[in-house]
Amino acid sequence: MPTAIRLLDETAAHAALPALCDIMADCVQGGASVGFMLPFESRDGEAFWAGVARGVGAGEIMLLVAEVDGRIEGTVQVGFAPMPNQPHRGDVKKLLVHRRARGLGLSRLLMEAAERKAAENGRSLLVLDTATGEVAEGIYERLGWQRAGVVPDYALFPDGRYCATTIFYKNVGGAATAKS
Ligand SMILES: CC(C)(COP(=O)(O)OP(=O)(O)OC[C@H]1O[C@@H](n2cnc3c(N)ncnc32)[C@H](O)[C@@H]1OP(=O)(O)O)[C@@H](O)C(=O)NCCC(=O)NCCS
Repeated sequence: MPTAIRLLDETAAHAALPALCDIMADCVQGGASVGFMLPFESRDGEAFWAGVARGVGAGEIMLLVAEVDGRIEGTVQVGFAPMPNQPHRGDVKKLLVHRRARGLGLSRLLMEAAERKAAENGRSLLVLDTATGEVAEGIYERLGWQRAGVVPDYALFPDGRYCATTIFYKNVGGAATAKS
């Protein structure tokens, strides 16, 4: 199965909204703690993803997708930290792969591309948070991310149970230009 990773511009992001909404709904329905609660259908993600597409247009977010046989099956974002004293930092957000496409290596491809693109854009320090004890936590560790700590009861799973969160960071190189 041919796979490809694409970085979307605003137009492509708007065109991808139906697929991104489907992936988000599948992940939430599968129990992932990614910001939303049950019940959650595809249409419930439309406002969120439209906001992401606008963020891409404003130069605030890099949006990547993973395609399998030409169909979008996964996604990840890097949000550029907005404050003037953090020009070198980005936040990795919403690593999501549809359940029908899991285990194909898409998350690894997405993360490697996100890290590379962030570094190319001068974002040398990346930060993310993820539900403690879930599959993604081990993926980030194997990709060389450093564990900063765990915040108990940080968020909720879609069914309402509390969820601890692990915070990770990674230096991905790039053009950090701090003045001393
Ligand atoms: C986490 C997630 C993105 C992984 O996507 P994926 O494309 O299936 O993962 P990959 O196929 O790239 O696998 C990456 C690694 O995880 C391992 N893995 C994948 N699914 C696994 C599972 N259910 N149990 C144990 N290991 C698993 C793979 O063996 C692989 O190991 P490696 O690092 O040694 O190569 C996907 O499960 C998902 O979308 N989950 C719901 C949303 C979520 O939790 N996102 C994280 C938000 S921070």
